[in-house]
Amino acid sequence: MTVLHFDSPMSDAERRARLFAGDLFVYSPTPHSMALVAFAREMAETAFAPHFPPDAQHHLAGPDYVRVLADLKPTFINHPRSAELVRGVLSDLGADPGQTYFDVPRLRTMTSEYLNAGLTLQFESHRDTWFSAPMSQLNFWMPVYDVVESNVMAFHPRYFGTGVRNSSRNYNYAEWVAYGRATAAQQVHTETREQPRLEQDLEREPDLRVITPPGGVLIFSGAQLHTTVPNTSGRTRFSIDFRAVNLADVESGAGAHNVDSECTGTTLGDFRRATDLAPLPAELVEAHDTLPSQAG
Ligand SMILES: [Fe+2]
Repeated sequence: MTVLHFDSPMSDAERRARLFAGDLFVYSPTPHSMALVAFAREMAETAFAPHFPPDAQHHLAGPDYVRVLADLKPTFINHPRSAELVRGVLSDLGADPGQTYFDVPRLRTMTSEYLNAGLTLQFESHRDTWFSAPMSQLNFWMPVYDVVESNVMAFHPRYFGTGVRNSSRNYNYAEWVAYGRATAAQQVHTETREQPRLEQDLEREPDLRVITPPGGVLIFSGAQLHTTVPNTSGRTRFSIDFRAVNLADVESGAGAHNVDSECTGTTLGDFRRATDLAPLPAELVEAHDTLPSQAG
């Protein structure tokens, strides 16, 4: 059974426990999620002017399109206003800012039957926990413009508690930061970077897709198996997502059950406290930062 909670009044602690058990939470747009969406739109509309961002893919040549994104995405990700608005979204949703740490919000684009590599890579089915995310990680996702079932992501709830064969054993976050990410902007048409991937067939259907208006917030465990479905909508999907952890969960080892993640290292060093952007205690990060040679 997968429960989808809509505008739940549940406390953050209870919600985290339910998310770790595989439930999904969906919220109507909040004041800060709407502000975050407005901020992303303003930035994207300036970058793609005179084109409407979801349609710009039909008006620009591949290299020009990628060039706009290569500038737009880091600008959004690193903008202090983005972080400030994420803090607002977390408080709107009842997370304790003194205990909650988040990673910078990403602006993602998924073109429709267009480019399929580098910055517009269509991810295969995966769990974020294959990419060195902590088992207590929660993902927050919201559309920037209207979305439809052919340009959102699909969840595969039947695999939440069941492992699948995958190559996460070859992934270490620190190595990825050192060698992989730097080359993303140069890869327009082919995808050559080593990423954890499935090593078996999946029963992908039935899947579950969540459609909210822009600024609606979907929260799910980083251990959910999910797929960015091939976009056949004719429009580029723009979405914002960020990840968050609660200090008590990281300290106690609470989180989803690890059914198949064998990666090493940790992304915990990237998380910042919602109140003052302080990092997690260094010894806590180090305790999670396993090395490839230690993989079992
Ligand atoms: Fe993901």
